Amino acid sequence: MDKPIAFELHGPEFIPSQYDKHIVRRLSSMDGQYLDLETYQEMLTKDDLLLYEVYEIERPEVAGELLHGVSIVHPGKVGQEYFMTKGHFHAVLDTAEVYYCLKGQGLMVLETPEGEWAVEDLSPGRVLYVPPRWAHRSVNTANQGDLIIFFIYPGHSGHDYGTIEQQGFRKLVIDGAGQPTVIDNPRWKASGVNR
Ligand SMILES: [Fe+2]
Repeated sequence: MDKPIAFELHGPEFIPSQYDKHIVRRLSSMDGQYLDLETYQEMLTKDDLLLYEVYEIERPEVAGELLHGVSIVHPGKVGQEYFMTKGHFHAVLDTAEVYYCLKGQGLMVLETPEGEWAVEDLSPGRVLYVPPRWAHRSVNTANQGDLIIFFIYPGHSGHDYGTIEQQGFRKLVIDGAGQPTVIDNPRWKASGVNR
């Protein structure tokens, strides 16, 4: 694990020429996350759609290392709400992340345990710095085409998916008459995360 690693990352597919892990997330893994629960259940009975994929280059999960890879969010909607990643805080809250958008059109939805939130544009060539403490979720707002992002974060960050699974994000992104529209999440509830 102590030798330099190099790989190719080219369009239009942007699948790393070498990777260690390929993670797929399907509709069934997003239970309770989409606002329109009825449509979610209805879609699930028909097909467990592929929502997003992650290609990871494996490194030791310790401080000093940088974990990196590519995430691909496919286009689609559950009701009016666009396909998106689960989203997470880092288990070690004081760790940041860098996102570099390679392809597609989307938004990153962010929030802190203290109640701040932000929504940032993702389009090819845009770099987004996610500061420590900010939970993050990527949303593909295009009618067609994948949203593809390269990411890098500290090796010891870890993932806290549970907080978001329980309380959701404060803001949701829906298709409002053809335009990506940010709305309050009526089901959002603070679960007393005070770290
Ligand atoms: Fe992250």
